[in-house]
This record gives sequence, C-alpha cells and structure tokens, in this order.
Amino acid sequence: MDKILITGAGGQLGTELTHMLAQVYGKKAILATDLSPEAEEKLEEIPFQTLDVMDQSSFASLIHKEKVTQIYHLAAILSATGENHPQKAWRLNMGSLLTVLELAREKPLQKIYWPSSIAVFGPNTPRHNTPQSCIQDPQTVYGISKQAGERWCSYYHLKYGVDVRSLRYPGLIGAKSLPGGGTTDYAVEIYHKALEGQPYTCFLKKDQELPMMYMPDAIKATLSLMEADASQIHIRSSYNISAMSITPDQVYQSILAHLPGFEISYEPDYRQAIAENWPCSIDDSKAREDWGWKPSFDLPRMTEDILYHLPHYFPHLHELPN
Ligand code: NAD
Ligand code: SER
Repeated sequence: MDKILITGAGGQLGTELTHMLAQVYGKKAILATDLSPEAEEKLEEIPFQTLDVMDQSSFASLIHKEKVTQIYHLAAILSATGENHPQKAWRLNMGSLLTVLELAREKPLQKIYWPSSIAVFGPNTPRHNTPQSCIQDPQTVYGISKQAGERWCSYYHLKYGVDVRSLRYPGLIGAKSLPGGGTTDYAVEIYHKALEGQPYTCFLKKDQELPMMYMPDAIKATLSLMEADASQIHIRSSYNISAMSITPDQVYQSILAHLPGFEISYEPDYRQAIAENWPCSIDDSKAREDWGWKPSFDLPRMTEDILYHLPHYFPHLHELPN
C-alpha cells in the first residue's frame, strides 16, 4: 500500500500536485504537509499535518508513524525571495533535501521526488536549446542550492541506491494557485490583473525570453517520471524538461486576443538580472527518449485555458466576455 507524503503541499506546485496525487492514489494514500497551517484549507478533505521540514526529529517520526513509502519534497525558498534571505534559503533548500535523502537511506522509502530548476544554469551556459549536460554556474543562492541538490541526489542514488527522481522545471504557470517568490511569477500575476480589469506592471523586460510550462504539463511530467520503471531513468541528477519559450510581450499579446482593452507597462527590477542569466530555451530530448515526455500546452492554448478557469478558483475575478 502506497503512503505518499508531500512537503510544501500548500505552495503553487504543491496545491495542484497534491490534488492530482489524491485523485490517482486515493485520499487515504496521501499525507499533505506544510509549515503553514493555512495550507489545509486549500487541500479540502486530503489528510494534512503541519510540518516544518527543518525539524528533523518530527519529520522522521511522521515518516515512521505513518509508514510513508514515497516523499514528494517540494518545500523550498524560490529564486527572488532567496536573494533577499540567502542564508535562510540555503539552510532550508539544502538542509531539508539532505534530511529527506538520509531518511530514504535509513528507512528504505521506495521513491523520492525532488524538483530542481532552470536556475541551475548561469551566464556561461548556452542560452538557446540548453543541453542536459553543460556548464552550470548559477548566480543565485536558489540556483546554487538546486545545483548542489542535484549532485546530492545523484550521490545518494549511486552510493546507497536511493530511488530519487527529479525534473528541472522551467517557470510554472498555474490557474489554481498563486506563486511564492519566483522570478517567473509575472506570468501568473499578469492573468490575474487582466481578469481584474486592471493594467499590469511587469517586473521583467518586454523581450525577456524564458522557458515556461503550464501546470497541467508540469504535473503530467512529474507523474510520468515517478511512474516510469526505474530501468528507464538514466539521469539521477535532474532531467531538463520544456514546453514553451515566451516573453512578457508574447504573454500580453496572447491575453490581448481575448481582452482587447488590457494594458501593460514595464518596470524591470532586481528579478530582471536573475532572468538574464537563465536559459531562453531548453533541450529536453533525454526526457523524451527515456520516459516519453511530451508537453500538451503551447502559449495560445494555455492562455485560453487560464482565462477560462481562473474565475472559478479566484471568484473576485471577472469571467471572460462571450
Ligand atoms: P511555493 O513557494 O509556492 O511553495 C513552497 C511551500 O513550501 C509553501 O507552501 C511554504 O509554506 C512551504 N514551506 C516553506 N518553508 C517550509 C518549511 N520549513 N517546512 C515546510 N514547508 C515549508 O513554491 P512552489 O512554486 O510550489 O515550488 C515547489 C518546488 O518546486 C520548490 O522546490 C521549487 O524550487 C520547485 N520549482 C518551482 C518552480 C516554479 O516556477 N514554481 C520552478 C522550478 C522549480
Ligand atoms: N520559477 C522559479 C523561480 O522563478 C524557478 O525555479 O524561482
């Protein structure tokens, strides 16, 4: 019997992934956890407990008590917030991953999922069609923690046989949840402003191209990776995955096609410097070859879907005019 514990379950990714895991495995098989007790409200009837992943002994007792077989370790501090709290971001992102990997080694958990990010790349990385293996010189503490985390995942697999799996997500864009301090958050905020009937001020430049992915594709990729037979997983650091490469102007134009009065202006801030050191596009051929990755959403399809669904999850937003 599977028992799946999710950390950071109240976050942008966690909220949607936890609901999908509950749908696939059944609510009783899920234990959602988060530092914030408010996360429980977002997770409806799914079993929930507060957990600070920095509290190693509570974490270990919960795994033992609940006979956990898999962990999806999502709790982290993202790139933009991390630059404001570098020591805290390093301690949380690195310390908690090492706790999870040690738990997996000592109490044989069947599988671990841990997300990495395009933030592992830096200014000397090839920016277009960034290969799976190339120079990684991250400039943010978040990127450094993800780069080091990838090495630790690979190490625990090689040394101890831990079945840990990972994806380097691009910027994630969801309709059901709000982002938590990333450089790619503009691509969620912009849809909310559009449906509030307000102009949007973007914190990145108009032509800043970044790899992005609609949340249903991110969830599909995560489940496909976790359900793949271990013999199909040839990369134990983290897989490149990709769906679309887009600029703020392209997102704006795609919304304008549905909401002709929508306005945007640009006031780049410190997040622009972070974005400039990340890839524009990603080569995800290894994920396609190894476990059959293929995205479903491009920008026009995503925009249509988000604008249609957002008012359902955020009732203060206006519905699209017919
Ligand atoms: P988020 O900021 O929305 O959520 C993080 C969650 O972790 C929050 O609910 C927060 O309360 C919780 N948390 C923080 N400190 C904690 C602690 N000490 N103990 C327990 N919980 C704690 O982030 P997200 O966007 O959902 O990202 C989830 C994971 O995916 C992260 O590892 C992130 O690096 C990775 N990722 C996200 C993106 C993206 O675009 N959102 C892209 C690449 C990778
Ligand atoms: N989307 C994330 C961020 O902006 C990248 O991991 O921090």
